[in-house]
Formats: sequence, structure tokens, C-alpha cells
Amino acid sequence: MTGFDDPAFYGARWASVYDDRYGGLDPEPAVDFLAELAGRERALELAIGTGRIALPLARRGVVVEGVDASEAMVERLRAKPGGESIPVTIGDMAAVGVSGPFRLVYLVANTLFGLLSQARQAECFHNVAPVLEPDGVFVIECFVPDLTRFDRGQRVQTLAVTEDSATFELSRHDAGQQRVTTQVVTLDGDGVHLRPVALRYSWPGELDSMARQAGLRLADRYGGWDRRSFDSTSGQHISVYWRASRRPSSSPARGVHR
Ligand SMILES: C[S@@+](CC[C@H](N)C(=O)[O-])C[C@H]1O[C@@H](n2cnc3c(N)ncnc32)[C@H](O)[C@@H]1O
Repeated sequence: MTGFDDPAFYGARWASVYDDRYGGLDPEPAVDFLAELAGRERALELAIGTGRIALPLARRGVVVEGVDASEAMVERLRAKPGGESIPVTIGDMAAVGVSGPFRLVYLVANTLFGLLSQARQAECFHNVAPVLEPDGVFVIECFVPDLTRFDRGQRVQTLAVTEDSATFELSRHDAGQQRVTTQVVTLDGDGVHLRPVALRYSWPGELDSMARQAGLRLADRYGGWDRRSFDSTSGQHISVYWRASRRPSSSPARGVHR
């Protein structure tokens, strides 16, 4: 496998800059949400990366494990305080590849869309379901596709300009494949730096359908980690799925917010 089809590709290209770019995002709202669902039980982060969420979640007493395809990303996790004690399996998140049961499995930061076909995303749901405890939940954080971002299948956006550098994003959108291919380009005194990303977006209802086919049901959908309502203005969703066989009396969350 090469390029975007290689699960380790993202990490190979992004690991050296990932924490500089995204380390400033406040993980606490997500950690609050996930800690409440996990209690002090076992939780699995698919695509754990450099531990942006997993490390603060482990500090709350959750027993966190991870899966990631990229040794380069996981090396950064290992170098952080507490990183050595989080077990990480190097592998493909669509396969899951670790033994449960887990109270919580979670996949954040739109990373489900890094699986570049509906079949690959459905495979992920299919392999998450059997590692959940009977009362366990699968939580995903995804954006709601906004096709108005693209003009005739493309988009150019300037992200940062300084005295010595410029960073911009060049994207192509393939509506038929529901695929966006992007280069984040930085020009500076050292030359041109290319950070590629490809994703295959899915609509919320499409994700629910994949979940149903895997034996999971949507329990709650929020418009943010602070449990705000999900509505027509929401740019993202936090979706909580539980096993279809779950007893109706046991609710992990505070109600339905769709
Ligand atoms: C955007 S980062 C998210 C990291 C972390 N979850 C966070 O929120 O900061 C995406 C992560 O997904 C991993 N990844 C991408 N495709 C993968 C795959 N098919 N299987 C496992 N990990 C994958 C990358 O190596 C990278 O660590």
C-alpha cells in the first residue's frame, strides 16, 4: 500500500508538526464527556495519535489503551509524561485488532473519515461492536459536511502569513466519492513543505446506517462536547452508539439531543 491508502501515511507526514498545529486545542470538554461515560473502566481510543485526549483521560483514572497505524505518532505519545504506561497496538483502526471488552471506544477529530471508503468506515463499526461491553458505547466526533465550502470542486484558503512564511490549504472535492484531498502548504526560508490529507466524509444518517448494520444504535447526538443540542446549524456532531441488544433501562447519557 502506498500514499493515502497506507494507514501509516498520515502519521509519516504529520507527526513532526502535529502537536505544534493541534496541541493548542483544549482537550478538556472532550475529556469531561468521555470520562463520564467510561467511569474508571477500560476505554480504547482508535487513532490515539500523540495522546492529545488519551493522556488527560488517563489522568482522570480511566484505563486507556490505544490503536494507531503510525509509529511516528505513537513515539511522540511515548515521549510525554504518562505516555509510556498507555498500551498502544500498532495497526489499522478499521480492524480494531485488540481484545475487549471496553466500556468506551472512541474515535475523535474526524478521523473516522480518514478511512477512505464507505466500506472501510463500515468495517470499523463492524469491528468495534464486538469489543464493547454489553453496556458499552462507541463515541465519534465528526464534522457535518458543508459542500458550500467548495467552488466548482475546489477551495483555496490562507491559514497563516508571517514575516517569514505563508501557510495555505489547497483542496479538491469529489462529490461522487464524497472525498476531499488537501495539501496544507507552507512556504518558508527552508523551502516548500507539503502536508497532505485525504478524507471521505459521511453524512450523519449514513453513519447511523453503518452502525445499525454492525448491531449498534444511536443513543445520543450532540452538537459539541458540551452536550449542546444538535440541530441544522451544527458544524459537527458527537454521536454516541450503543449495542442494539442493550437493556433499554440503562442509559449512559442524559437523554436524546438530536
Ligand atoms: C488527526 S490525528 C488524531 C489523533 C488523536 N486522536 C487526536 O485527537 O489528537 C489522526 C490519527 O489517525 C491515525 N490514523 C490514520 N489512519 C489510520 C488507520 N487506518 N488506522 C489507525 N490509525 C490511523 C494517524 O496515525 C493519526 O495518529
